[in-house]
Amino acid sequence: MTSTPPVGTRTLGRDGPGGGLVVSTLGLGCMGMSQSYGAADRDESIATIHRALDLGVTFLDTSDVYGDGHNEELVGEAIAGRRDEVQLATKFSISRRDGAMVIDGRPENVRACAEASLRRLGVDVIDLYYQHRVDPRVPIEDTVGAMAELVTQGKVRHLGLSEASAASVRRAAAVHPIAALQSEWSLWTRDLETAGGGGAGGETVLGVAREHGLGIVPFSPLGRGFLTGAITSPDDFAEDDWRRGHPRFTGEAFAANLRLVDAVRAMAREVGCTPGQLALAWVLAQGDDVVPIPGTKRRRYLEENVGAVAVQLTDADLARLAEIAPPGVAEGTRYADASYAYGDSPEPAR
Ligand SMILES: NC(=O)c1ccc[n+]([C@@H]2O[C@H](COP(=O)([O-])OP(=O)(O)OC[C@H]3O[C@@H](n4cnc5c(N)ncnc54)[C@H](OP(=O)(O)O)[C@@H]3O)[C@@H](O)[C@H]2O)c1
Repeated sequence: MTSTPPVGTRTLGRDGPGGGLVVSTLGLGCMGMSQSYGAADRDESIATIHRALDLGVTFLDTSDVYGDGHNEELVGEAIAGRRDEVQLATKFSISRRDGAMVIDGRPENVRACAEASLRRLGVDVIDLYYQHRVDPRVPIEDTVGAMAELVTQGKVRHLGLSEASAASVRRAAAVHPIAALQSEWSLWTRDLETAGGGGAGGETVLGVAREHGLGIVPFSPLGRGFLTGAITSPDDFAEDDWRRGHPRFTGEAFAANLRLVDAVRAMAREVGCTPGQLALAWVLAQGDDVVPIPGTKRRRYLEENVGAVAVQLTDADLARLAEIAPPGVAEGTRYADASYAYGDSPEPAR
């Protein structure tokens, strides 16, 4: 058995019922067990979740849209009998209809999605329930109002937002305490630190989230695998791998981004860790309110990623990483469709 350090805990949010949500310092992203990054392997996925719990990685991240319900069922099966060890996060508002992604933040959809997620997960309460994307047609006040009712009913413990703009964060927090903002944040995606995302002049999504006491849950902290150094050619991807069409993994952008990975790898060698651990240690060093959720469906990768918790970066290390990976360093956008990030919604009817 690989020896790993204690993972420890961090707290997301401060204003919710009973304070914030205490979660493991590192979470486990479960999306790739059902979609996006190559063939699914049910047995290894369930073994990975069990190994995560054994190692103290107890904050599990899923969504109703991952594998169109498959991922929630898988997570539910894996945690059956161990529910009390887990901080369970799931999301609603995105679904696939006729091959297209549809966002629906209407209150009746919030209620229906929550019931369906509880059923698929096989639990009677969700610890952290996120709106996966802000609905550009439904005022966020209406959506969060319906989410807040789920808290009152005891079906959900804490609320979260994903890829919301600064203005959306502020408006949502005025309706009900929001424990966490999940957003892409990594050495090659630092937009959260610089983008205003619909807020007033000069503010950033990160700044507004912190001002309102939200914990930050960086998704894709390994740059969808790129920052681990394990991906060396677009040919590494299976035919149905979503990254084949991703702007950062194609053509000249791929080659340019490999140079960033080379620099991360060289520094990791000096620090005495792997490139992926260095990428995770950088995110963990951004504050005690930050809880990254690296995704994997393999025990081997999970164990490596847990090792990042023990990597202590000095101020000099962080300064060097700031030079290696300044905001905007990656070639290519993080989504082919820019409207997929930092969502806004219309003002409520008066
Ligand atoms: N809110 C949102 O809109 C949103 C969007 C994307 C993701 N998420 C959540 O965030 C989680 C993490 O993001 P992500 O999965 O997109 O990206 P990620 O964590 O940056 O990278 C995942 C990829 O890295 C690979 N990997 C993981 N550890 C590795 C290691 N030690 N060595 C080599 N390769 C390694 C995985 O391979 P294997 O798959 O082969 O294990 C997978 O292909 C997701 O699982 C999901 O729960 C949320």
